[in-house]
Amino acid sequence: MLMKKKSFLSIIVMGLALMTACSSGPVKLGKTPVRKVVESMTLEQKAELVVGTGMFFEIPDSLLAMMPGGVNPFAPKKDELNDSAYWAMVEKIRDLVPGAAGRTAEFEGLGIPTNVLCDGPAGLRISPTRKGDNNTYYCTAFPIATLLASSWDTALVRSVGEAMGNEVLEYGADVILGPGMNLQRNPLCGRNFEYYSEDPLITGKMAASMVKGIQSQGVGTSIKHYAANNQETNRNTVNTIVSERALRELYLEGFRIAVQEGQPWTVMSSYNKINGSYTSESHDLLTKILRNDWGFKGYVMTDWGGGKDPIAQMKAGNDLLMPGSGKQISEIIQAVKEGKLEEKVLDKNVENILNIILKSPKFRGYSYSNKPDLKAHAEVTRKAAAEGMVLLKNSNSALPFSNIKKVAIFGVGSFNLISGGTGSGDVNEAYTVSLVQGLENAGLTIEEKSMKEQLDHIQKAKANQPQRRRFFFMPSPVIPEFQVKPALASASAQNADAALITISRNSGEGADRKAEKGDFYLSDEEMNLIKTVSSAFHTAGKKVVVVLNIGGVIETASWRDIPDAVLLAWQPGQEAGNSIADVLLGKVNPSGKLACTFPMKYDDVPSAKNFPGIELPDTSTRKPGSPLEEAFLRAKPAEVVYEEDIFVGYRYFNTFKVPVAYEFGYGLSYSTFDVSNLVAPSGKFAGKYEFSVDVKNTGSTAGREVVQVYLAAPAGKLVKPAEKLVAFAKTSLLQPGETQTLRFVLVPRDLASFNDATSTWIAEKGNYEVRVGVSSLDIRQKATFELPNDLTVEKATKALVPDREIKVLRP
Ligand code: BGC
Repeated sequence: MLMKKKSFLSIIVMGLALMTACSSGPVKLGKTPVRKVVESMTLEQKAELVVGTGMFFEIPDSLLAMMPGGVNPFAPKKDELNDSAYWAMVEKIRDLVPGAAGRTAEFEGLGIPTNVLCDGPAGLRISPTRKGDNNTYYCTAFPIATLLASSWDTALVRSVGEAMGNEVLEYGADVILGPGMNLQRNPLCGRNFEYYSEDPLITGKMAASMVKGIQSQGVGTSIKHYAANNQETNRNTVNTIVSERALRELYLEGFRIAVQEGQPWTVMSSYNKINGSYTSESHDLLTKILRNDWGFKGYVMTDWGGGKDPIAQMKAGNDLLMPGSGKQISEIIQAVKEGKLEEKVLDKNVENILNIILKSPKFRGYSYSNKPDLKAHAEVTRKAAAEGMVLLKNSNSALPFSNIKKVAIFGVGSFNLISGGTGSGDVNEAYTVSLVQGLENAGLTIEEKSMKEQLDHIQKAKANQPQRRRFFFMPSPVIPEFQVKPALASASAQNADAALITISRNSGEGADRKAEKGDFYLSDEEMNLIKTVSSAFHTAGKKVVVVLNIGGVIETASWRDIPDAVLLAWQPGQEAGNSIADVLLGKVNPSGKLACTFPMKYDDVPSAKNFPGIELPDTSTRKPGSPLEEAFLRAKPAEVVYEEDIFVGYRYFNTFKVPVAYEFGYGLSYSTFDVSNLVAPSGKFAGKYEFSVDVKNTGSTAGREVVQVYLAAPAGKLVKPAEKLVAFAKTSLLQPGETQTLRFVLVPRDLASFNDATSTWIAEKGNYEVRVGVSSLDIRQKATFELPNDLTVEKATKALVPDREIKVLRP
């Protein structure tokens, strides 16, 4: 015993000696404790670390000429910070991973490497080619987030994340600026394609899986845009006025799940304000909720140029300002010197960043190959895309194609499939497989006459388009739809076995969509195309399938009766044509389900009257900026009030019994499934509620079913939606006749609502109904339990209180 004590003591002594030796050596990140590294940094170094090193992207000369003074507004301005060593470092790292959105500062002496940050949610976004270099640096364009969410398959999303993360690693980046995970509050948000769902549970689970997949490769993620960034109109200034309850139950809930289950390295604050404060300047949002309530351990970065006041951002807990300017660094240094910013606040920001840099590939000295396995990743995207497509209609078994050898394809989109949306969420992929290519790869032939006429039309339309250089945010100009003549439609109906019509839409960063023909509604030309082709093919006794190649919801109710089948292919990534063909031919049995509602018309959407809000009188003396600033960085004061409150998506439609075209959770299969044998305890809720159901494939094709668990809570002091999604699971591939048992557990939080008055999550006493279904309106099994007394599930901090009363919608 004595011996043991002795040796224990000697170990301690040796350890202490070692630590003294270490701390007497030069201070180095990784060798010296992070706090000590921070202590050893000068004020200037700290300020330089919490501000990114600027943005270096080439602006074409034609656009440069439009900028005030012909100067690139993004290029770092050296006169803003008097530190030549800093600028030398910036020059040294500026070309690391060309096309990166930003980089953090490097301090060689302290062993602190730069970290390279790149977009974005559907795949790594870097420059595909480099000056004086014959190699290419293409990345895989994976399916958009909305499609991935429609798979309801977290394991699949994780596998996409693994492939994406591997490209981040092998191309030399450290953190990818994704996944995007704002709630799809309104179908017109131009960036909905980057987001998962109108429901926070799906959003949170998908984002957590994506984060886990990406980070399993030893690189970081940045979940964005935190929070309530649900529109692009006036995105840099809009003040979002929203109740604490709607924030907690909807707009923050997905982020909470992603933070707690996924542990992302970083979070990106958004451009907008919430209840009066820029999110990047909100201590409530970034410290009270994110860190104190949820336990977030990484660092927070701004969106690019987000917020106004660097000092307020530091204090709020927005650790890193991106892309960063010399002016911000100088302001931070000055503020500390003048006592306006406590140095210990800055120290905390620095520490948060260093803790993540410590995990980064750059810090590990990872030697990247610039050669990820793009072939293998193409297979991942091909499979994922097919798994997330949603079969909306399938009359008379129009699909899968059987005995179809030759198809006539229509619609400009058929010849130019859109793999993903525009802006920073766009990927520079090597190719996108067209529908023609995909169908030919699957062994079909394409009816030539109609194809040739349409290709001629597209070529002419392109030649007539003004040859302006486009800024990277801007979508390509839309090619007007081909006007098919009845004679051509009839001739191709004679020649082909079936017709396919593609309807495409694109949108992205910087602008919202419009509730107009050609966008949310079909254009007259598209409507004619569907009518003319369907009439000719139906006369010839042949089927017509519409493929929707879209990034956000459109109106379908007025035309869906015309074709035989409608396949919602979303924007499916670079293997588009192959993935679509896999579903059309039945190689993959569709199992996607909507994670958003398709309403009958736009005005039915509960937020329609408050989207995108109003512009306020501009009292500032601000001079109009450059055309670019005016177009994308508009500084007009604006506000939007979320009067629909907690009634977003199906929470509204189901509670207010408003008919929809396709409800949340809906999607067909080539097979049929029975959900039966709900085995659940009856009586009182006892801390948790475990139950199971059996899913049987009752059709003749192997397939998968998504089981959705909704909970209807009793009316009490707090108003409740008719039901909310509390759990979901997808079966494995079930052979005809095969049965799988799915198990679920509900915990107190699933029962709870957020009470603004007490800032607590409470489950109110009464009877709860568990509804197990295959869509939010197709419930197959039910069970009930009782909660005898009110239950306080969690106490949260009072935060983000609106400064006025909101006229919230109530049933
Ligand atoms: C976008 C972000 C993006 C950043 C960097 C911003 O304009 O809103 O989503 O990550 O640019 O490119």
